[in-house]
Amino acid sequence: MKIAAVYNQILNVNADLLVVDMAQDKKHKNKLLNKIDLTLKKEISAILKNEKIKGAKGEAKLIYTRGKLKADYLLIMGLGDKDKCDTEVIRRAGAVILSTAQRLKAKKVVSVVLGSKYGKVSDDDCALAMTEGFLLAGYKYTRYIKKAESSLAEMVLYCRERAAVAGVNKAVNLAQIIHQGVVLARDLVNDPANLATPRYLALAAKKLKGVKVRVHGIGAIKKLKMGAFLSVAQGSTANPPYFIEMHYRPKARPKKKIAFIGKGVTFDTGGYSIKLAKSMETMKDDKAGAAAVMGLMSVISKLQPKVEVSAYIAATENMVDGFAQRPGDICKSMSGKTIEVLNTDAEGRLTLADAMTYALKKKPDYLIDIATLTGACLVALGSRCSAVLGNDQDLIDKLIKCGRETGEMLWQLPIVEDYRDDIKTPIADMKNNGASYAGTITAAIFLENFVGKTKWAHLDIAGTSWTSADLPYTPKGGTGVMVRTFARLLSGF
Ligand code: BES
Ligand code: ZN
Ligand code: ZN
Repeated sequence: MKIAAVYNQILNVNADLLVVDMAQDKKHKNKLLNKIDLTLKKEISAILKNEKIKGAKGEAKLIYTRGKLKADYLLIMGLGDKDKCDTEVIRRAGAVILSTAQRLKAKKVVSVVLGSKYGKVSDDDCALAMTEGFLLAGYKYTRYIKKAESSLAEMVLYCRERAAVAGVNKAVNLAQIIHQGVVLARDLVNDPANLATPRYLALAAKKLKGVKVRVHGIGAIKKLKMGAFLSVAQGSTANPPYFIEMHYRPKARPKKKIAFIGKGVTFDTGGYSIKLAKSMETMKDDKAGAAAVMGLMSVISKLQPKVEVSAYIAATENMVDGFAQRPGDICKSMSGKTIEVLNTDAEGRLTLADAMTYALKKKPDYLIDIATLTGACLVALGSRCSAVLGNDQDLIDKLIKCGRETGEMLWQLPIVEDYRDDIKTPIADMKNNGASYAGTITAAIFLENFVGKTKWAHLDIAGTSWTSADLPYTPKGGTGVMVRTFARLLSGF
């Protein structure tokens, strides 16, 4: 879709739909809306008054202009209190524009940069959020159904100042790049496990542009002595594991190296500690960490961050066959540390442990792992907030801040000293499950054994990577969570 900013008389542009924002603030004079009101002989103020429309957050009023404006329809988009209008309000408003345009079968939309000059958010960030919401709301997983034709071809963003055009265009361009990354992540999560095997992830990685990709098959994984990863994968003889690495290098000499590790369990049955049928229904989502990392790497050469970025995925199924690991088995991880596998459903940490050990060989300054790791995370934070834990407060704070700015909420959980005892066992260096409670924390404590002194953050997206209900700009299914937060984090280094 063509999206571009203009400095122009917005009322002179031909379009199917014209969008104007409105704050819930009496003092806030909306010059553009007043002008439209005059053109329509005060019809707008009459409608707003009679229908008691105040510009509340999320409030949207669609008016047919009966040929009195160049646009057939006018959408007045409420953004709530001017002071409280943040990027998430704008993103959601962007989504409303898209659904309205689709309903009207509009071809061309013209809109002001929502929230511009409200004070809190820069014009560029307004344009970024609005375009993100607009584009992401249009996502649909269509690999197995006929794609519906969309008539929408163009959106024009109107800037109040000529000087704002370049910045807004840049933000729109950035939103379009990031959108592509989120779409890949959502698609990979939504791809069913009969299609999206470990080999499929490896092939998808090899197709990525602008990154160096290396894929290791089972022979190489054995040579690397990834015993924890292999312990999970040994029950999936039909679909063997792959270890995937992706590398991006900026043109100028990078100051920092960042490694991302995504959990890539293409299907989690639980293994012999088998899941209940209901809990297994959405377990194709257990590759959402890998999907986020691949979504990011798919657009990284366009984002062009100044840092070196590597990404690693230990891709495997967690299945049951005659070779599968049993509860009580003990494996030796690549790091040399031994693990008693008391619960085969706590497989993610086994795969991550070896991926982390491998990633450390390149001596990254920061290590960030992202995983649908624990059901306990859903209990603690629900489906709209991810957990973050780690050993470097600065990195954690950066992630939380970027998450706030992208509308991907993160909440830090503590690494409680005393819970370290929960993963102790007398017959190995550690065990792979904790006590009954604080499962998200004990999982992080397990992973901490494999990060050494590297600055590290762990994200648990078990709740946020999947939505069972349609959200403002995220339809049911894989959410592609954290692609946007990671992109923002990298732009700040
Ligand atoms: N993949 C699951 C975690 C999960 C649960 C993701 C719900 C998304 C939604 C993970 O492998 C798992 O099963 N973890 C166990 C760990 C326990 C056995 C220590 C869990 O959380 O129950
Ligand atoms: Zn599991
Ligand atoms: Zn899992």
